[in-house]
Amino acid sequence: MESSKFVTAVLHQFAESLGNAIDAKDPYTSSHSEEVAEVSHTLALSMGMSPREADIIHVAGHLHDIGKIGVPDSVLIKKGPLNAGEWQAVRKHPLVGADILRPVAALSSLGIVGMVLHHHERFDGTGYPSRLKGAAIPIGARIIALADSLSAMLQDRPYRATKGFDAACEEIVRCSGKQFDPSVVSAFEKSAGKILSTMSLLSSPGKK
Ligand SMILES: [Fe+2]
Ligand SMILES: [Fe+2]
Repeated sequence: MESSKFVTAVLHQFAESLGNAIDAKDPYTSSHSEEVAEVSHTLALSMGMSPREADIIHVAGHLHDIGKIGVPDSVLIKKGPLNAGEWQAVRKHPLVGADILRPVAALSSLGIVGMVLHHHERFDGTGYPSRLKGAAIPIGARIIALADSLSAMLQDRPYRATKGFDAACEEIVRCSGKQFDPSVVSAFEKSAGKILSTMSLLSSPGKK
């Protein structure tokens, strides 16, 4: 294997490993990071990105929530609404994640740190941590934002019923131009069948 391919492969393996570590903290989010990585990859290809660009966004998908390592477990698994202080702790996780990843020069130069930092921005500029709007949000972060919400809507939570895939799709389309980039939503509508089968495979018994 040539050396740049080796570095990329090792980067991906470490990203998957760290994503698994963060998912292990929360019994309700098994495979969440991997789902986000896989769905983001499919969306990137559906938008016409190159396989390399899709692979980079895939790695960022594995790592997107690594900053939750800095959120107390009691907050992560709390049933019911969070108080103001708890929300503040949760809302720091993109910043904490970027700080954790920044020492890995390749993650910075490939734009992965920026994708992690901005994965909770909203297309209409009302997200966090920077209230970036539209094209100012890195495209990888706009893709991960949609994949993250889809995965979250389909996960069992102790305090709300899981949405079915069709209801989750409707919600995503409803939020086009507000929470999500319309071009990412279009790519999602084009590739929804493929995404559903990928997610079904990931959640099938015996996968983990
Ligand atoms: Fe992966
Ligand atoms: Fe997050």
